[in-house]
Amino acid sequence: MSKVIAIDGTFASGKGTLAKRLAAHFGFAYLDTGKLYRAVGLRALQTHTDMGDGKALAGLAAKIKPAELDNPELKSGAVAAAASKLAVHTEVRAALFDYQRNFALKPGKGFKGAVLDGRDIGTVISPDADVKLYIDAQPQVRAERRYKELLSYGENVTLEKVAADLAERDHRDQNRDTAPLKPAANAHLLDTTNLSIDAAFDRAKTLAETILSQK
Ligand code: C5P
Repeated sequence: MSKVIAIDGTFASGKGTLAKRLAAHFGFAYLDTGKLYRAVGLRALQTHTDMGDGKALAGLAAKIKPAELDNPELKSGAVAAAASKLAVHTEVRAALFDYQRNFALKPGKGFKGAVLDGRDIGTVISPDADVKLYIDAQPQVRAERRYKELLSYGENVTLEKVAADLAERDHRDQNRDTAPLKPAANAHLLDTTNLSIDAAFDRAKTLAETILSQK
């Protein structure tokens, strides 16, 4: 039976890096589910779709193809903000459900399992995941990480603006009616505020190895 590692957490908490490294370590397939929402965000911006029109946005979501997830434009601040806005719609989340669920259940030939990271993996997409992690860090530390990342993409931003956007996005992700961001009841919490990437990875890896060895 294929294994699933579910990783949820706040924006810029380091969950994506951890998820990617865990997938490589265990030989599991990896899906960054935020990219699905970002891909819908990019399509919505390109087509000037109203961010309040859940039905139209779900129509865009239903057409997302795997190749679109590699588009470097998905990394931009504008696309991330659009993703967070359209992710509140139940119709959009429903349209992206099967893609994520199928990936978790059938990660593909040669993979012994799957790692998915997002906001609702342990709570909605894969409630029966073998390992559930919830990654967080203090907002100021996350804002600084994201600020450096956006600078590296050549975006013209200030730390204050990034911190304000992050607070707005956290609030929206945590307070929406459908699939709000929260740790699953049986998730293991990991705060990366004072941890290097390597130290955070070591903790997550040890935890996952222990749990998977008992299955
Ligand atoms: O993880 P990432 O920052 O790429 O996600 C962009 C936005 O997509 C998040 O702010 C969140 O609103 C939404 N998202 C979600 N559920 C997921 C993954 C992302 O609602 N599983």
